Amino acid sequence: MFEYKVIDNFLDEKDFNYLNKLKLEQISKNQIKVYQNKIYNNGKIISDCFSNDFTKLLADKYNRKALEILKELSPKKISLWEYTDFNIILTGSECSFPIHRDTPNKLLSGVIYLYPKNNTGTILYSNGKGDDPTTIEWKQNRALFFSRNEKNSFHSYKGDGISNRLALVYNLCTTDIKKVCEVDDVSFLKVKLREKFNPYFYRLFNRFL
Ligand SMILES: [Fe+2]
Repeated sequence: MFEYKVIDNFLDEKDFNYLNKLKLEQISKNQIKVYQNKIYNNGKIISDCFSNDFTKLLADKYNRKALEILKELSPKKISLWEYTDFNIILTGSECSFPIHRDTPNKLLSGVIYLYPKNNTGTILYSNGKGDDPTTIEWKQNRALFFSRNEKNSFHSYKGDGISNRLALVYNLCTTDIKKVCEVDDVSFLKVKLREKFNPYFYRLFNRFL
């Protein structure tokens, strides 16, 4: 299994409560809804469902911790960091997101389980076929972090068939995919092509290349 970090009670209570009180759209049990909130290192903010102040507060408060984790998991990627995602992902109870690596723009991938009390956590695998599944059990305010690369970091998630599932996805990101490929020692062209096709492949076959 690849390297990952689990941290319980990751967010301060006040921030955890703010996130659980967000007014979000109702979704059907088969839908996934993503709200993007992004802050660039130059201060620019793009927010779907947070106030700009809250996006900034999260960055100011937690980015140091996230960078420390990245330093531990993939120190060569720290200098590539350009912006941070704080995405809210609402997943329908009957919905499942197939096994995937994260996209290469993500230097550090994180998820913090928000709501409800019980649901299904993220499932990690030792390869893209889904061998050796390990579930990082759902617990409110538990954070899971890993640093994706081409050969590992395969994971999936799904609803538990009973309740919709709310999570905060917290990523340190870059736009410099070429440098990411250099660090990971993989072909930039191959990665670029695959990433171009993956959204279509997902829509057609509900899986990833
Ligand atoms: Fe993912």
